[in-house]
Amino acid sequence: MTKKICVLPGDGIGPEITAEAVKVLKALDLGLEMEEGLLGGGAVDATGNPYPEATQKLAQAADAVLLGAVGGPKWDSLPREQRPERGLLGIRKQLNLFANLRPAILYPELANASTLKPEVVAGLDILIVRELTGDIYFGQPRGIEMRDGERFGFNTMHYTESEIRRIGRVAFEAARKRNKKVCSVDKMNVLETTQLWRDVMNELAPEYPDVELTHMLVDNAAMQLVKAPKQFDVMVTGNMFGDILSDEASMLTGSIGMLPSASLDANNKGLYEPSHGSAPDIAGKGVANPLATILSAAMMLRYTFNLEEAAAKVENAVKKVLAQGYRTGDIYEPGTTKVGTQEMGNAVLAAL
Ligand code: IPM
Ligand code: MG
Repeated sequence: MTKKICVLPGDGIGPEITAEAVKVLKALDLGLEMEEGLLGGGAVDATGNPYPEATQKLAQAADAVLLGAVGGPKWDSLPREQRPERGLLGIRKQLNLFANLRPAILYPELANASTLKPEVVAGLDILIVRELTGDIYFGQPRGIEMRDGERFGFNTMHYTESEIRRIGRVAFEAARKRNKKVCSVDKMNVLETTQLWRDVMNELAPEYPDVELTHMLVDNAAMQLVKAPKQFDVMVTGNMFGDILSDEASMLTGSIGMLPSASLDANNKGLYEPSHGSAPDIAGKGVANPLATILSAAMMLRYTFNLEEAAAKVENAVKKVLAQGYRTGDIYEPGTTKVGTQEMGNAVLAAL
């Protein structure tokens, strides 16, 4: 099998953090081929398109995509079609990356980095499975137009049962490899789309008798995540609720700078990116935390290339540098060693 990786550093801190992940991948000597492309604001500046034709070709031909982050204030006032975020949504949709896996794991060394009490988060290990190519994010019709003499904004939330079923299966299968619990999150007390979501999840459950399925309304889920997060194993939800809950879950672990993600199609082709954004405020300063991107590269080795051993090796190297006391600014606390982006990458290399 060829192992072609399309590398899209993107904007803000994107280039700095992807450089460290690329360094780690190269050091593993796995015969990976890497080629870089443009996505996001930089792509708009160069071509007028946040997801240019050349990048589309590269991404479609690759087995996996490694992405830094996109966006920044510089592009916030552009028309919607040219906004960097559109590039990200475009690549997710075009490559049919419907299954977004966002693990939230608390490393014991970082228990004090969380804003929650250590006893609430110690040992936390949640996997959020977010549907990524449907829902109100992509639903038509949408827009802002004049109606009855005033501006009227509208979006459409919808899911087909097959879309719900395929993401449901991803969640059940993932739970089988973990603690065998799936919590499906919806808003069925108000929204029909999510009543269907709950019905389809219930219909799937008999196929997975070894997995316990529960349901939770999204507002309660948001509360339970900060109240008693350890009750969760796998959470599965739609695109918009998943966007919000995964940011919330990330903070349980102390820093969004630690959280990787994988977005997979039906054949495990994937796009791998940190869960955090482009952090324009610290871009170019060499202080960003590259660990989420390095951990995303580990997910790539596991899910797309089936290289479990190499994936575990990278994850263990990350654990080791944390145990050694290396911290970027976002996870720094007195008594540890503050390092920059490159030094952190080098420490992971040394630990490999
Ligand atoms: C994420 C981000 C994106 C999303 C934005 C940048 C479009 O918040 O990956 O969670 O909403 O999906
Ligand atoms: Mg988000």
